[in-house]
Amino acid sequence: LALLPLAGKRVLVTSGPTHEPIDPVRYIANRSSGRQGHAIAEAAAQAGAEVILVSGPVNLPDPHGVKVRHVTTARDMLAAVLAALPVDIAIFAAAVADWRTAEEADAKIKKGAGTMPQFTLIENPDILATVAKGAPRPGLVVGFAAETDTVLDHARAKLERKGCDWIVANDVGKGTGVMGGERNTVHLVSKDGIESWPTMDKTEVARRLVARAAAALRAADPQA
Ligand code: C5P
Repeated sequence: LALLPLAGKRVLVTSGPTHEPIDPVRYIANRSSGRQGHAIAEAAAQAGAEVILVSGPVNLPDPHGVKVRHVTTARDMLAAVLAALPVDIAIFAAAVADWRTAEEADAKIKKGAGTMPQFTLIENPDILATVAKGAPRPGLVVGFAAETDTVLDHARAKLERKGCDWIVANDVGKGTGVMGGERNTVHLVSKDGIESWPTMDKTEVARRLVARAAAALRAADPQA
């Protein structure tokens, strides 16, 4: 039990950015590298879980011992996540694009003298909220909150709004080096309070988070 605390459990992890096409050559994206999400998937596999990793476009190898579903857009990611249910634990580390253009142009949008293309943006589905408020709900639902200011206030509000059990809050502001970097400084926010962890490698954040998730599942259902 101590060696493989997640044996027999199914764990879903999302990771990386999404790319939202504007036309055949352009897209909306963000600076997420997928390092933290991939590390979580690998740590869960090492803890004995059956792991499904739904990854946006990243420059990382697939982690060992993990089933990987490669997706591009937020809509693809939602579909792959819903197809992976039911799971015992779901950890949403992906930096899903908040918006996409209302229409994807079939041909490359041409530069015109003095005229700028105008785009209408529409909201992408919120994958975390859909799963946290839907059925079958995983036993433990964990979201990430990448913020550049008032990190903890935002995290508490997000816990409520999204209906998840924990938020892992991190400051990705300028100069922190978190986005794309090897290390992370996180705060684990739950209804019971906030726990601030020291700065550590993303692989260590992943191992601790997986250990905590396994302990929470056991506490909720000691027979399982
Ligand atoms: O609201 P915000 O995007 O900051 O919330 C971040 C959390 O929500 C992350 O866990 C992220 O993976 C998840 N999320 C999602 N689908 C979205 C937006 C965010 O799953 N469309």
